[in-house]
Amino acid sequence: MEQKKYAGAVLRMAQRQTVRNFRDERIPDDVLEHILEAGINTASGGNLQPYSIIVERNREKSQKLAKMLNYPFIANADVNLLVLMDWHKLAVYSQCRQAPFVENYSTNHFFIAWDDAVLCAQAMETAAWLYGIGSCFIGHVMDCSKGLKEMYHLPDMTYPVILLSMGYPKNLTPKPKKLSLDMLVFEGEYPPLGEAEICQAFDQKYEGRKLPVPTDSNARTERIDKFRRALETVYSAEKTEEIIQETVSRGYFHEIQRLFGIHYHPDREIGNELVNDLHKQNLFPFTTSLDERPEEL
Ligand SMILES: Cc1cc2nc3c(=O)[nH]c(=O)nc-3n(C[C@H](O)[C@H](O)[C@H](O)COP(=O)(O)O)c2cc1C
Repeated sequence: MEQKKYAGAVLRMAQRQTVRNFRDERIPDDVLEHILEAGINTASGGNLQPYSIIVERNREKSQKLAKMLNYPFIANADVNLLVLMDWHKLAVYSQCRQAPFVENYSTNHFFIAWDDAVLCAQAMETAAWLYGIGSCFIGHVMDCSKGLKEMYHLPDMTYPVILLSMGYPKNLTPKPKKLSLDMLVFEGEYPPLGEAEICQAFDQKYEGRKLPVPTDSNARTERIDKFRRALETVYSAEKTEEIIQETVSRGYFHEIQRLFGIHYHPDREIGNELVNDLHKQNLFPFTTSLDERPEEL
C-alpha cells in the first residue's frame, strides 16, 4: 500500500532531466517554500547544516548573475537559488558559547560541509521536479566567488557551492543517455571490468555525440591548438600529433576527447586558484597542522 502511494514520485524521479529553457511563469510562494523546506530537511553531517541558500527572484540581479556566470538562461529562471557552504554562523555561535571552532581548517569537515550543501541543493531540485518545475545546476559558481561575494555580501567562511536555476519548463530537450545500472551498481564487490566492456558502455552512452573538427581554418587551428595543449599534458609530442592526425581525418572529436581535451581543459582545471579563493574566504581546508594558522588569528 505504502509502495503504491509513492511509486508515482519514484517513477517521475527516474525521468528527471536538466531544464535550461523556462516559461515566463511565477512559481507560487508556497511551492517555493516547500522546495526550500525539502532542502533544509536533508541529512547533514552532525546535523550541523553548514550551508545557506540565497534566493534570487529579482530580474535585474538574475541578469547580472547570467552575465557573471556566462549562462544566458539564468536570466530567464523564475528563481535562482545560490547554495553556499557556510561556517560563518557556526563560528560566531561557537565563539558565543566558548566552543573550540577550527572547522575552517579541516579537510574532513570541508568535504562534509560541501556534501551537505550539495545534498540540500539536490533535495530542492527533486522537490521542484516533483512539482513539475525544471532546474539546472551551475557548478561554475565556485569559480566566481569574488563577484558573488560582492553581489551578495558573503561573509568570511562562506563559499558558493552550486547554483540552482529553476522555473516551469518551456520545452524538454531529449533526455541525455545515462550509463545503465550494470555499469554503476555492483553487487557485493567491484567487478573486474575489462577495457572492452568499459569502452562499449561509454560508446553507447555517447553515441551520436560527435563534435566536428571545424571547417573554417581559423576556428580549426584554434580548436586543434587547444586540444594539442591538453593532449601534451599526458602524451608525448609524437603521440599527440598522431592523435590529432587521426581526429582530423576522422572529422570529429570523440565525446570524451571533447570533455577532457576542450571543455574541462587542463589550462582551467589544474592550478591552485580554487584553493587561493578559499583562503580569501578564511577557509583553509587542506591545512595539515593548526600551527600553520596565520598570526593574527
Ligand atoms: C555538480 C554539477 C554542476 C553542473 N554545472 C553545470 C553548468 O555549469 N552549466 C550547465 O549548463 N549545466 C551544469 N550542470 C548540469 C549538467 O550539465 C547535466 O546534469 C548533465 O548534462 C546531464 O544532463 P541531465 O541532468 O539532463 O541528466 C551541472 C550538474 C551538476 C550535477
